[in-house]
Amino acid sequence: MAPASIKLITGVRVEEVMSWGLQNRLSRIIKPSTRRTVMLAVDHGYFLGPIKGLENPRRTITPLLPYADALMLTRGVLRTSIDPATDVPIVLRVSGGNTIAGPVLGDEEIVTSIEDAIRLNAAALAFSIYVGTEHEHQTLKALAQLVDLGETYGIPVLAVTAVGRELEKRETKYIALACRVAAELGAHFIKTYYTPEFEKVVDSAPVPLVIAGGPKLETELDALKLAHEAINAGAAGVDFGRNVFQSSNPVGMIKALRRVVHEGWSPTEASEDLGQVVAR
Ligand code: R5P
Repeated sequence: MAPASIKLITGVRVEEVMSWGLQNRLSRIIKPSTRRTVMLAVDHGYFLGPIKGLENPRRTITPLLPYADALMLTRGVLRTSIDPATDVPIVLRVSGGNTIAGPVLGDEEIVTSIEDAIRLNAAALAFSIYVGTEHEHQTLKALAQLVDLGETYGIPVLAVTAVGRELEKRETKYIALACRVAAELGAHFIKTYYTPEFEKVVDSAPVPLVIAGGPKLETELDALKLAHEAINAGAAGVDFGRNVFQSSNPVGMIKALRRVVHEGWSPTEASEDLGQVVAR
């Protein structure tokens, strides 16, 4: 199967339909050397508050940052908790306005302006869509508006296919629908959940897909297997949060993920090194 970043759209490489700036930003995230990425998601607080492992963002993120190909977070945590001298590309979550305590989870809108994203030197903008919910239209329309803004300024848009309670809809048919719709609306890459027959999802969404880890799995090996299976099915990488920062060895875990995603290690081999310090 062709790597995600050279998927064809009616015979045209994905890169060829993007402006130079947009391609340049995307290639800071999805590494040209492997055409893959290990993103670190630490944006959970925008609707979940201070979840386990991410109570103090700076403390959690700082040791992991050198091993992340990109960091996904909100502007509030970026400004307060990340050293501006970092060279790690920022995938800025620009949707929000809801919480886990509110009546409906999907009631999200764009909550960060494109001007602020540019000021913050965002490498990409992230927005959640809630396909199949009462907020489907609102979030899909906002995604399309964000793509227009992203195209104007050369900033790629990451569509995120649902969170939290929407995970009940994690079957292949739903994920394929959500990913295809996001791609049709112009998302430049997509964050979604791994499902059985993920090849079908990859095949029918003509942009790179990265997968979320979801709630912490029982073991680190389970999470590495998830990453491995997704990559084998054609995913362009991972955007893991809880399975990294809720691990008993977060730095060891992100290093092991890098080995699986970028270096083709088996999950078992990679997990053997979890306790050791490994050079990047
Ligand atoms: C989802 O919309 C947010 O980006 C989450 O913060 C992210 O998906 C969570 O990553 P993980 O499921 O790997 O903890």
